[in-house]
Amino acid sequence: MRFDVLTLFPEMFESPLSHSILRRAQESEAIKVVLSNIRDFATDTYSKVDDKPYGGGPGMVMKCQPVFDCYHNVVKQDATKGRVLMMSPQGRRFDQKFARELSKEKRLILIAGRYEGFDERIRIGLEAEQVSIGDYVLTGGELAAMVIIDSVTRLLDGVLGDAESNKDESFSEALLEYPQYTRPDEYCGMRVPDVLLSGDHGKIAEWRRQQSLERTKKWRPDLLENLEKQD
Ligand code: ADE
Repeated sequence: MRFDVLTLFPEMFESPLSHSILRRAQESEAIKVVLSNIRDFATDTYSKVDDKPYGGGPGMVMKCQPVFDCYHNVVKQDATKGRVLMMSPQGRRFDQKFARELSKEKRLILIAGRYEGFDERIRIGLEAEQVSIGDYVLTGGELAAMVIIDSVTRLLDGVLGDAESNKDESFSEALLEYPQYTRPDEYCGMRVPDVLLSGDHGKIAEWRRQQSLERTKKWRPDLLENLEKQD
């Protein structure tokens, strides 16, 4: 999959992309991430990418011209059309289902903004879908774009090793994870549950399922309600 990112801060992406699974995914060419600096496309003398909002109010708004020109430069680099996503707290809420949907695409074009937001004509003109990673406001869209790249990449075939592999799209995916333990079997007086040491795989599976359900009921009852609504 190809990710194009339009941003004022391409350097912010360097570290997350240079380690672990995202690094390997690029090396194996499961993904390609192309970063474009919107400021490189600003045509005015001061390379201005933002301006005061019409009608007054606080903050600055991202101007159309640098974003449109950057976008047109990016689009023509690959024949695949791509889905255009604009990072915004006003967007559709990003979740695992959305990540799965995006993992079916061949190309994603992610636009990360700064300041108070984008000139509305950017969303309209680029036919961009707005995506929010949660109901809070970040200082810019870069972290949101990274969250999308990370969560979509791990869903692509061959990206996770067998041991880390994705579970089937099943009921259990909608629940919280069961608790995990590793050696030693006792630490500071805290023991690993006997069932996990029993070697009885049937019992272990049942215990894990039960734990997942109980944790979900206790910590995220909303997940169960959503599940019931979908049925
Ligand atoms: N930009 C600022 N806040 C954001 C959020 N919550 N999601 C996506 N982009 C954002």
